[in-house]
Amino acid sequence: MSFRLSQGLRALHDSKNTLHSVNGLLWCRNESTALHFYQNKQLDLYASREAKRLTLRQLVFYGRSMNEDRLVKASFPANNPSDVTFSHLLQSANYVRTELPVRIAHRIRDLQSLPYVVVTQEGVAKVYELYWTAFEKFRRYPPIKNLEDNKEFCRFLSNILHEHAPVIPNLSLGLSLSSPYLTPDVLDSFMRRMLVSRISRRVLAEHHIALSQCYLGDHASSGRRDTSEAHVGIIFTAIDVKKSIEQCAQLMRVQPSKDSELADVPLPEIIIEGHTETTFSYIRAHLEYIVFELLKNSMRATRLNHRNSSSLPPVRATIAAGANDIGIRISDEGGGLHTIQTQYGIKSPSDLFSFSHTRNSTRMETGRIGALRTVSARPQGVWATVNEQVQAWEEISAIPGKDPEIGNHPRIGIGLPMSNIFANYFGGSLELVSMDGWGTDAFVRLPKLGTNLEGIEV
Ligand code: COI
Repeated sequence: MSFRLSQGLRALHDSKNTLHSVNGLLWCRNESTALHFYQNKQLDLYASREAKRLTLRQLVFYGRSMNEDRLVKASFPANNPSDVTFSHLLQSANYVRTELPVRIAHRIRDLQSLPYVVVTQEGVAKVYELYWTAFEKFRRYPPIKNLEDNKEFCRFLSNILHEHAPVIPNLSLGLSLSSPYLTPDVLDSFMRRMLVSRISRRVLAEHHIALSQCYLGDHASSGRRDTSEAHVGIIFTAIDVKKSIEQCAQLMRVQPSKDSELADVPLPEIIIEGHTETTFSYIRAHLEYIVFELLKNSMRATRLNHRNSSSLPPVRATIAAGANDIGIRISDEGGGLHTIQTQYGIKSPSDLFSFSHTRNSTRMETGRIGALRTVSARPQGVWATVNEQVQAWEEISAIPGKDPEIGNHPRIGIGLPMSNIFANYFGGSLELVSMDGWGTDAFVRLPKLGTNLEGIEV
């Protein structure tokens, strides 16, 4: 008999139960049936609405329109800032307040449509609970009518962003363990929807927080580099691609290597060439996540492949400014992907993005699962941005006697699939091409016009 997760999870809600995980076992607590029946009706209502997808350009345009608010504000007496003058900011707050529960409801429905056995896997119930709680909180959140409300709303958003930090490792752990029960296509398309939607929700929340900080003059938590470069919310309007690559390379240099087999092998040089003057408008955190991951893989492969040589070949990053896209190619002489493909039963390089063990057997490896368990239990989950990692590293290394562990994640296998999803989010791409026996080229293409809609399903 096939028992769907929808039946299991809905039954748990409808029959007044809340999922709890104790010592890894799921059990349910009886609460009021009527309440959960009502909650499921609410979920139906929100899940039936379409997500209102945005383009990068709309996000920038909306942020810029807040400048009008500032100009209006400037014409008021200095100590009489009126809420009326910030109508665009309040509109943005209410868009986020009403849009996020719709996007979360779609994903809760997605979780409910998986086979029941999936919910019994470690990590999945935690994600499900986090989403239900967030859905309920957003649904009940009252309209934001003035600046004081907005301040409170930004605090609320920051807390939820923080609470959801361990979602990715938990989801990845649960779905890796579920891999034997799902076809590779079902598993990968589910993960893609979950991860793209999560990126989209975090973009909306973080953009609104950053706009509020900017337009209300509170830059305190917007990040060291952020205040010095032109940006609208979280979108940097003139990202210097070469500088971003250098920042990622710098992060790799400051982190001490914990890879014992490479302890004595130096880091290869990174040569940046091509259209090195290129700038474009994008979410810098997304660009740098991808670049950091690809450089990290190329440096590691180069060091492994040449660990007995007297000198290491460089890793080359080539930038190309096309008419519609920015291209970045990271080339290494790390020997190509043939060895790991054979070792892990990977047929094509794109299977490295897969969460299915039949496409990529590392997913069920004991070491990988153990590493995911470790990271899932950390409140900070995985570091979201390179900037965040650099800042955290600098802060921790300034404390005498404190070992800066930042960035030395156990190898959990999330970096490449996430990079692929970040690249796809606004219609770009990531492709790996292996020259077996020589090296690998990774091609990233990111649209530069900002006119593509977010790649989420509505
Ligand atoms: C997530 O990080 O998974 C979220 O859904 C965050 C969002 C509710 C602000």
